[in-house]
Amino acid sequence: MTELILALDVTDKKQALKIAEACAPHLDAIKLGYPLILSSGLSIAGELEELDKPLIADFKVADIPNTNKLIAEQVFDAGFSSIICHGFIGADAIRACVDVAADYGGACFVVAEMSHPGATAFFHGGTAEKIAALAVECEADGIIAPATRPERVTILREIVGRRKILSPGVGAQGGDASTVAKLVDGIIVGRAIYEAKDPVTAITEFSAARTA
Ligand code: C5P
Repeated sequence: MTELILALDVTDKKQALKIAEACAPHLDAIKLGYPLILSSGLSIAGELEELDKPLIADFKVADIPNTNKLIAEQVFDAGFSSIICHGFIGADAIRACVDVAADYGGACFVVAEMSHPGATAFFHGGTAEKIAALAVECEADGIIAPATRPERVTILREIVGRRKILSPGVGAQGGDASTVAKLVDGIIVGRAIYEAKDPVTAITEFSAARTA
């Protein structure tokens, strides 16, 4: 079954913990990024660990290999099980994240194409395809591909084969859960869950879409 991953981009720590606690039983993983980490500190990963769900660090790491290695070590030391890095940084810089992830028994996902409208300016024209191939070459665990463009996900799937595809852009950005769930290994949903009046009810709807 396609995984359901919550993008917990909630900047109020108390609220974030409350939403995570209520939603966790219905989720496969929780993705944390700059909004929550910058407001609450990296230590929030330790607090969320109690929920016993894999934590994905979405820092879209995009630096030189040594800096990436240092960032990735901080991420896995803090309790995350996966890290997301950019792909345009090239093989050596991707490998730095992949290697640290492997050392910790974790996973590394490479952003092949982003989900927002402006992403087409740079990711289209062959770049996303090249990045997806690079992710395979670097033995990353998978890629990030846009739920807002299922036709692009299909193209990228041909390149990455059985490697995982995690797909953000469902809900608030317009991506349709049931369409994209058939193409990917995990759908990532943020605002449509954490801004819902009742996040657990919202999750139930996304959950059902995975099997529809
Ligand atoms: O609120 P929403 O469902 O749009 O959140 C999507 C999440 O996925 C955000 O955390 C965003 O930063 C992230 N993301 C994305 N598109 C990408 C990579 C990550 O929307 N290509």
